[in-house]
Amino acid sequence: MPATLRIAVLASGRGSNFAALLTAHERKGLPVDFVLVASDKAEAPVLQLAQSAGIPTMVLDPREYAERRAYDFALFDRIGASKPDLLVLAGFMRIIDGEALKPWAGRMINIHPSLLPKYRGLHTHRRALKAGDVEHGASVHYVTAELDGGPVIAQATLSIEAGDDETTLAARLLPLEHQLLPAVVALIAAGRLTLGAQGVMLDDEPLRKPLRWRDGELVR
Ligand code: GRF
Repeated sequence: MPATLRIAVLASGRGSNFAALLTAHERKGLPVDFVLVASDKAEAPVLQLAQSAGIPTMVLDPREYAERRAYDFALFDRIGASKPDLLVLAGFMRIIDGEALKPWAGRMINIHPSLLPKYRGLHTHRRALKAGDVEHGASVHYVTAELDGGPVIAQATLSIEAGDDETTLAARLLPLEHQLLPAVVALIAAGRLTLGAQGVMLDDEPLRKPLRWRDGELVR
């Protein structure tokens, strides 16, 4: 692993998780180089955030492609041209073709707003509330062909309170996401976290269950 991890970020929207990575880099010395911020949406606010920080951006519009697979190969080809060590999906709202993902095995992570394996896909806050769950959270996982189904690296948890609705729950979870994602990227940048044949490895030992974000640090 190089001293400074080259990361690319792929996002469709506002980019608060990207902003959290940027802040961790600028204020806390997260040892990464942002080589690219890419999006499927030209109007995504994440692009302005990146441009203001002097980070190269790239947009590829899916409407220019007849098929998802062709789009995904083109997208990842272009991202690959920036030679990232790690690709972070931070609010990328498209399902990705499994073949296009293959070359990225172990080099792509995603942040998802649920305690995976619960609530893959959309509307996670709503579904947690509807199920009457007492806790909710966010997960960072390696990306595989299975949607939100790759090996989970770390999770942050919060209690669901009486009176919570989708908006309050999302608002309380987001600051936790902003801590969880940079913490995981820091482990990868330090060369401590990898994906091997036996699953997620931390410090050369298999991770039997996801790391937990507790009192400001990741714990086993
Ligand atoms: C976050 O809730 C993230 O977990 C999910 O999409 C949302 C993106 O938010 N994957 P932002 O664009 O990073 O603000």
